[in-house]
Amino acid sequence: MGFFSKKKSGGSSKKSNVGSKKLSRVLGDYQMPKFPAVAMKAMKLLRNDQTSLHDVAQVIMSDPGVSTSMLAMVNSAANAMKHPVNSVPQAAALLGRSQIESILVAVAVGRSLPSTSQYIEMRQFWRAAAHRAAIARGFAAKLHPTTQSTSYTAGLLQDMAVPILMESKKNAYANVFLEWQKGGGDISVAERDQFEWTHAEVAGWMCEEWNFPDSLVTAVTTHHGAHGDSNVADPAVLLVSLIRGPEDAEGIEALVEHAVSSYNMSSDECMAVVARGFEQGDETAQLFR
Ligand SMILES: [Fe+2]
Repeated sequence: MGFFSKKKSGGSSKKSNVGSKKLSRVLGDYQMPKFPAVAMKAMKLLRNDQTSLHDVAQVIMSDPGVSTSMLAMVNSAANAMKHPVNSVPQAAALLGRSQIESILVAVAVGRSLPSTSQYIEMRQFWRAAAHRAAIARGFAAKLHPTTQSTSYTAGLLQDMAVPILMESKKNAYANVFLEWQKGGGDISVAERDQFEWTHAEVAGWMCEEWNFPDSLVTAVTTHHGAHGDSNVADPAVLLVSLIRGPEDAEGIEALVEHAVSSYNMSSDECMAVVARGFEQGDETAQLFR
């Protein structure tokens, strides 16, 4: 259900004007998707410790679409709840702030991106994104357990600028991306050869525009490697950026090789994370379209 609004959102004082201007320059006349107002408001409350989870749940419930998708995601195997969760307040109490925020971001972005594209099959796009998210969470559990939630969300959102750039730049961008998807290589270099930006940077500016937490902005911006002054924020997110599509055996092979050589994991251990991530990701992907 892609929906597009007049440029500009209901804004907050924290928004980076620099990122906002760069985003406008890249997208030109193309109008940036609007992030659901309810999700924006709930996220702001979630970051304020003085607000109760009950209040957050009330805000989320004011949008039935967001509430329904959120409960579906909470109840999916990916979240491994023992008993079905039937209400948003129950979900909020069970999951806590950080997980609720991850799920809210995932649901809201899923509703904000174009639902169809002339260049890519959006169902496959979300399937690959859901695999990356679940696999990133699996590697984060082993490599940096305290940031599993951010790794999941950043894995899911890392390529969210791609359908937007294809809509805005048409063949000029689609060709670069599709070539990489087919043949691999360093997509950031290919993008820089033709443009003044990469999809990772553009996705980072989108995160800023939508007021996402700084940790998520940095993890998304650096998902293909260190960028500007920022070192790689999240090794698990970097690993899953090697996955180019939902059936990418080559990408998985490269990911496992990288995890074995850089993080001292056994290849059996890596393959177990990947297999579980595929299973969980396939379940989550059904929630998007
Ligand atoms: Fe990417």
